Amino acid sequence: MYDEATEAFEKMQKDAEKDGAWFHIVSRYRSYAVQNWVYEGYKKEREHVDTFSAKPGYSEHQTGLTFDLIDTSGNLVTEPGPSKWLLKNAAKYGFVVRYQEGKEKVTGYMPESWHLRYIGKEAQDIADSGLSLEEYYGFTGGDYVDK
Ligand code: DAL
Ligand code: ZN
Repeated sequence: MYDEATEAFEKMQKDAEKDGAWFHIVSRYRSYAVQNWVYEGYKKEREHVDTFSAKPGYSEHQTGLTFDLIDTSGNLVTEPGPSKWLLKNAAKYGFVVRYQEGKEKVTGYMPESWHLRYIGKEAQDIADSGLSLEEYYGFTGGDYVDK
């Protein structure tokens, strides 16, 4: 599935560029050790880390099927910019924008318009449903958001 995700991503990226939406992968596969480094790094600098960074062992990035994207400014993709293009089109290529506004309590995380998860064919159904992956597949989210 890793290669399938790569191929789908490259196709999506090319089509997005034709529409003037430019983005680039800044982070994809992370090993446990790398996720630990990311998480512990944030912990040294910021509070409420569990609302935006997964604990090692719990990040989708460890599957290799999740992509964090940056835009031409070198920042993570946020509004305004290619995030709109991604919200509208990513599902056609098998991706879901994973952590969306209004779903914080379900996913456990703050919105991340730059974090895409490769799903495959079902992505379009999921996007059309308006549900998070947790709601669609019926699994429990992080529930890390500070109460
Ligand atoms: N930022 C997301 C939640 C992660 O660390 O996987
Ligand atoms: Zn991410």
